[in-house]
Amino acid sequence: MWRDSWREWRNRLLMSPRFQRAAAAFWLSRPQARREARELFDLVAGFTYSQITLSCVRLGLLERVRAGRVSEAILIESLAMSVAAARTLLRAAAALELLEPANLDEDRAGWALGRRGAALLGNPGVLAMIEHHAVLYGDLVDPLAMLRAPRGATALAKYWPYASASTPGEVAAEKTHDYTRLMAASQSLVAEEILDAYDVRGHRAILDVGGGDGSFLRALAQRSANIHLMLFDLPGVAAVARERFAAAQLLDRVQIFGGDFSRDTLPVGADLVSFVRVLHDHDDPLVERLLRAAAAALPPGGRILVAEPMAGTGGAERMGDAYFGLYLWAMGSGRPRSAQELTVMLENAGFCRIRRCPTRIPLQTSVLVGERAG
Ligand SMILES: C[S@@+](CC[C@H](N)C(=O)[O-])C[C@H]1O[C@@H](n2cnc3c(N)ncnc32)[C@H](O)[C@@H]1O
Repeated sequence: MWRDSWREWRNRLLMSPRFQRAAAAFWLSRPQARREARELFDLVAGFTYSQITLSCVRLGLLERVRAGRVSEAILIESLAMSVAAARTLLRAAAALELLEPANLDEDRAGWALGRRGAALLGNPGVLAMIEHHAVLYGDLVDPLAMLRAPRGATALAKYWPYASASTPGEVAAEKTHDYTRLMAASQSLVAEEILDAYDVRGHRAILDVGGGDGSFLRALAQRSANIHLMLFDLPGVAAVARERFAAAQLLDRVQIFGGDFSRDTLPVGADLVSFVRVLHDHDDPLVERLLRAAAAALPPGGRILVAEPMAGTGGAERMGDAYFGLYLWAMGSGRPRSAQELTVMLENAGFCRIRRCPTRIPLQTSVLVGERAG
């Protein structure tokens, strides 16, 4: 009750132009007023930031200044746009700290890599996601139309064909290649986060369900020379994983299973089953089935590891419910779940002693580990 009254009082105050003016005028509240105004502006203008960033990535601008400053004239020459348009883009990129002005001398303007540009270049997975987001951006042009239409009538749903297929096992291999590449590009940071959060070395064998091209298992193999690797994914993806393991000369350590986890049982033999960025793709009935299948595949005392960005994560609320909420809606199935929701689902499927293993950057992934009840 007191919460309602407090909220009404706060909102009345924040809506009042007089209060806003007073907060900006008073020196003690001014920094907070400025912060609020900036955050509100980001909410309103964020779409321009994404498109400026996409332009820089598509034009290879960050790559062009990777090694050091470049003259503005040379940069502009390659952009296939008017000088005025190019300068507008360069200045916009500087405002986002993707680039920074670095004149060559008094007469020659130049540009160098900015701090956010450097962070992006150091993270090829994020660069791949920026390019990929053009698909979601198209679906979001009319957000209400998307939310009101039957789910799955989107370009993003076509990109992830398993999400709306009635028989995912029959999805053509070539339709899985783009997303498998995207997932592999963004897997390395996620894998390191997970492996730092949970020590896998006590395990004998791991089954990675929906393991993609095996990037996670290969990162894990580098940490533990003895653990046996098992991967389950759609037949077309499993075939790609086989090629990647062969190229890494790891075929003797891995068993690869092609199948459809919405119908098939999971292979036995592992004492750790992992789901990395898999459960949030699916609706509750399939997730419940998957967790029961994992319990059936494990011996008593065997462990389950669930790693994905989770809703309601402190400090990363926008990632869970805003970004993944809309992303997964557009994809056609699944939803971001909180650690509490996943814990209840794990318990219902026969797991106990479920705990969260803290990760350094929960924005990328959170990790839950549980034990198959005896
Ligand atoms: C979002 S990707 C995650 C891949 C990998 N775990 C990672 O984090 O990079 C989900 C994976 O689940 C697989 N998958 C989806 N539906 C499946 C099904 N019905 N049977 C088997 N695998 C499936 C996809 O092919 C894909 O590789």
